[in-house]
Formats: sequence, structure tokens, C-alpha cells
Amino acid sequence: MSQSFDVVVIGAGPGGYIAAIRAAQLGFSTACIEGWRNPKGEMALGGTCLNVGCIPSKALLQSSENVEQVEHKFADHGISVSGVKVDIAKMQARKDGIVGKMTKGIEFLFKKNKVTWVKGFGKFVSGGDTYTIEVTDAGKVVDTITAKHVIIATGSKARHLPGIAVDNVNICDNEGALALPAVPKRLGVIGAGVIGLELGSVWRRLGTEVTILEAMPSFLAVTDEAIQKEAWKVFTKEQGLNIKLGVKIDKVTTKKTGITIDYTDDKGLAQKLDCDKLIVSVGRVPNTDGLGASNVGLKVSERGFIEVDDHCATNLPNVYAIGDVVRGPMLAHKAEDEGVAVAERIAGQQPHIDFNTIPWIIYTSPEIAWVGKSEQQCKAEGIAVKTGSFPFMANGRALGQGEAGGFVKIVADANTDRILGGHVIHAHASELIQELVTAMEFKAASEDIARIVHGHPTLSEAVKEAALAVDKRTLNM
Ligand code: FAD
Ligand code: NAI
Repeated sequence: MSQSFDVVVIGAGPGGYIAAIRAAQLGFSTACIEGWRNPKGEMALGGTCLNVGCIPSKALLQSSENVEQVEHKFADHGISVSGVKVDIAKMQARKDGIVGKMTKGIEFLFKKNKVTWVKGFGKFVSGGDTYTIEVTDAGKVVDTITAKHVIIATGSKARHLPGIAVDNVNICDNEGALALPAVPKRLGVIGAGVIGLELGSVWRRLGTEVTILEAMPSFLAVTDEAIQKEAWKVFTKEQGLNIKLGVKIDKVTTKKTGITIDYTDDKGLAQKLDCDKLIVSVGRVPNTDGLGASNVGLKVSERGFIEVDDHCATNLPNVYAIGDVVRGPMLAHKAEDEGVAVAERIAGQQPHIDFNTIPWIIYTSPEIAWVGKSEQQCKAEGIAVKTGSFPFMANGRALGQGEAGGFVKIVADANTDRILGGHVIHAHASELIQELVTAMEFKAASEDIARIVHGHPTLSEAVKEAALAVDKRTLNM
């Protein structure tokens, strides 16, 4: 079979499927090539995010947080519950149901927008005025597509470590870690990054003894130091996550009785960790193998990322790349916005993404969210700043909700008052950060937020109070 389109998108993760929909909305005949198979063997759209990333992890985070609430937090409200039972099979089935609903939803969106789903994996065969892409499924060529414009959105996969064989049963990357059929007694995690903390939290809340081994000597170094300190205190002292920093993994051995990790600790001493399951979450690598990059002269960096400019244009005319397969944060919303921007650029528009205002959110409890620069980053860059913080302890809504931990911190330029960064650690930080994202996108000063009427009683009043604190005039502290 051979088909021709104006635009072909390779990969249907959040970057690719959104790019395809936007291209179709703009009037291009559009195809999206995707060959992902779910555990039932069915082809599914949605990529890492919907199948084995954002969506299933957030479903399990919510289920496990509900367990934590019932077991440890309801008592404060005068509610006692006995005989709590957790059915992991049902919890996993609920998660799978949500994934199924979401991925089928994209099939519906493709039909609605007249995007053709070409089932299989795409590989460049030749370039020129039009590009020819061969589509393969299970080793057989099933289609050949030609298109003038190509958007590469092939995403990323888990990075594995040499000598540690991931089987996704005992030693897991994100795929196995999201599908454990029972609560392990002891869980080891290599890497205290976003996945290690989120999935470590899921299984800890369900009763697992979790030990996280992190190579870096510092914890959550990407966040503001005030957030690092608070998160460390809550995760280790209050919640009992055992996090060891500055370690070097020496050897991982699988036995009938479990897994042993030999490592060197931060003092240089040899240590052993025995566990029943191990999660390896040490970052992700771009998917560029098998794309046929060399067939068309597409530039790929040494680390496997497709090289692009600020507008996601590659070195080839009319070929763009977006999402995890290019530079920048590996985040679904970054991939989506790049997808929209590229489709619009193909249509001759001049879209713009401000990479400084892409929010980060870690969905632990409390959640950690930030946008822009930390206080330390500003200082390192020689920018004079003033900061304001406000604790949720002094926020009536947070007290009512029983979620009074954490704070909002705003970093503003000392001379102009323009907001340079926002940092929130709180149960609902993921929603609260968006006010600061919007403010930064509109180049707001902290005084702008301080003068906006915020509903009462709301958590967002803490954002306003943090803005007032920048000018040392909080009203409720
Ligand atoms: P992907 O989602 O990786 O999709 C790429 C698609 O391309 C895949 O479906 C793949 O099958 C397909 N593909 C690859 N090669 C080919 C080929 N040759 N031909 C055809 N198709 C191909 N981000 C957030 O913003 N928020 C979160 O809460 C969050 N949680 C996460 C939790 C976990 C456990 C993980 C692993 C990731 C999480 N992420 C989160 C990151 C997020 O999933 C990624 O940033 C996002 O999926 C990237 O989108 P993408 O479209 O670039 O690539
Ligand atoms: P990560 O980059 O967040 O963290 C990896 C951690 O592993 C780092 O702290 C690193 O120092 C450590 N590490 C690396 N090599 C090591 C080694 N040999 N031994 C011990 N520690 C080692 O990567 P992670 O957690 O795998 O997640 C991948 C990406 O997926 C994230 O960077 C993020 O882009 C995305 N993601 C986003 C989420 C969100 O937005 N909420 C949730 C989950 C993933």
C-alpha cells in the first residue's frame, strides 16, 4: 500500500497526536504513524504518557493516596475506619481502565479530525521534495507513506544501566513498576528523580519498605533549596522513605529469594540492600534507533537526540522534531505545545513557546511544582532578587482540608519586581502553580498578584500572600 499526505507525524504520544490534530485542523491531509502495542497486544495511541507514564502513574498515586488518607489522615477529622482492605488487582484494573479510555479517546479524536492512523513503526527511506517513509509492523512492511512535511515525535524510553537486566517482573523500569500485581515487602529504587519519588511513594503508601539509592550527593537539585529542605524532611522523616544520597551502584544480583544490590555509600563504605523488587529510574533516552535518520541525512546528536533549532526545525527542509526526542525537559505539556507550534509553523503562522515558563510538577504528597528560576539560580546568574514566602499553615482553607504543610515562594527581580520564579510545595501544588505560570507569561510583577482579588477561603490566597511577602507586607502572618 502507498499513501500520500501533506503532513505525516511519526509517533502518537502527546507531542505527535496533538501535532497531527492541529495539522488536520489547519486543513492539511495528515497521517500519524504509531505501532505501540499494549500488554493485551492491541495497538494503542498515546505514547509513553498515556500508556506507561503520566496517566497510569497519576491513577495509582491517587489510589494509594486514598489509602494513606483513610489509614493515617481521617483520624484527625474524627473519622475512624477499621478493617481497611486494599485490592491491588482492582486498583490496577481501574488504572488500566483509565488508560484504555484515554487511548481510545485519541482514536475518536483522530476520526473526528480526519487524521489517518497508519499502524506500525516508520522509517525514513528517502528524502528530497517529498519524504518516503516505510511503515513496518512485526518485521513486515505494511505501508509506504510519502509526505512533504514530516514531524518526528518518537519520544523516549527508560535508560537502563549496564549489568542490570530489566525484566519488568522483578527488576522494573516505569512499565513494570506501574504494573506490579502485589505489594512488595521491600522495594529498592535506583534514582531519586521524578519517577523514583512518584512510584516509590505509591508503593510506600501501600505498605512497602522503600529504599531509594541516588548517585547525586544532593536531593532534588533542580528545585529551589527551600523546597529541597522541606521535601527531604517530609519524605524521609515524616513518611519514612529511606533515601540514600551519593551512592555508587556496584552490582545487582537476582536470587530466588529476591534481589541484592551491592553499592558504595557516600562515605565510601561497601553496603548491601536486599529487596523483593527493584525499580530502575535513572532518566530516559530518545527513540531514534530504527528511524532511518542516516538514509536522509537527519542530524542526531551523540546522545541520540534529534538536533533542532528554537522552532523545532531539523537540518532537513520541512522536517521537524518535537517532545522527548529533542532538547529540553521531557514533559508531556512541552511536547504538546511544540506539536501545536510546529503544525502552525507549517501553515505559515509564527507561533512562540516561552521555554522559561514551562511548569514542572512532581506528583508526590505533597506535590512539588515550580516555574522559572530558583533563588539560587538567579544568584548564580548575578541577578539581584527579592523573595517572598507564605506557609499553608496560615491559610484557612489548607487547615480545613487538613493539608497545612508546605509553602509558596516567589522570586522577583530586585529592581523591576518582575516575577522570575515560583515554587510551591503543597498537596495541590499542581493546580496552584498555574497562576504563577500565567503571571510569568504575562511578564507580571509580584505586585500584580498582590493586588489581584483572590477568592476566600482558597489555597490561592497563599500565592497572593507570598506576593505580598516579596514586599514584606503579608497580612496574615
Ligand atoms: P512519547 O510519549 O514517548 O511517544 C512517542 C511515541 O512514538 C510512542 O508511542 C512510540 O511507540 C512512538 N514511536 C517511536 N518510534 C516510532 C517510529 N519509528 N514510528 C512510529 N512510532 C514510533 N510528563 C508530564 O508532563 N507529566 C507527568 O506527570 C509525567 N509523568 C510521567 C510518568 C512516567 C512513569 C514516565 C515514564 C513519564 C512521565 N512523563 C510525564 C513524561 C512524559 O510521558 C513524556 O514527556 C511524554 O510522553 C513525551 O511525549 P512524546 O510525544 O515526545 O513521546
Ligand atoms: P530523572 O532524571 O528525573 O531522575 C533520575 C535520577 O537518577 C537522577 O536523580 C540521577 O541523579 C539518578 N541517577 C542516574 N544514574 C544513576 C545511577 N547510576 N545510580 C543512582 N542514581 C542515578 O529521571 P526519571 O525519574 O527516570 O524520569 C525520567 C523523566 O521522565 C523525568 O526527567 C521527567 O522528564 C519525566 N517524568 C516526569 C514526571 C512528571 O512530570 N511528574 C513524572 C515522571 C517522569
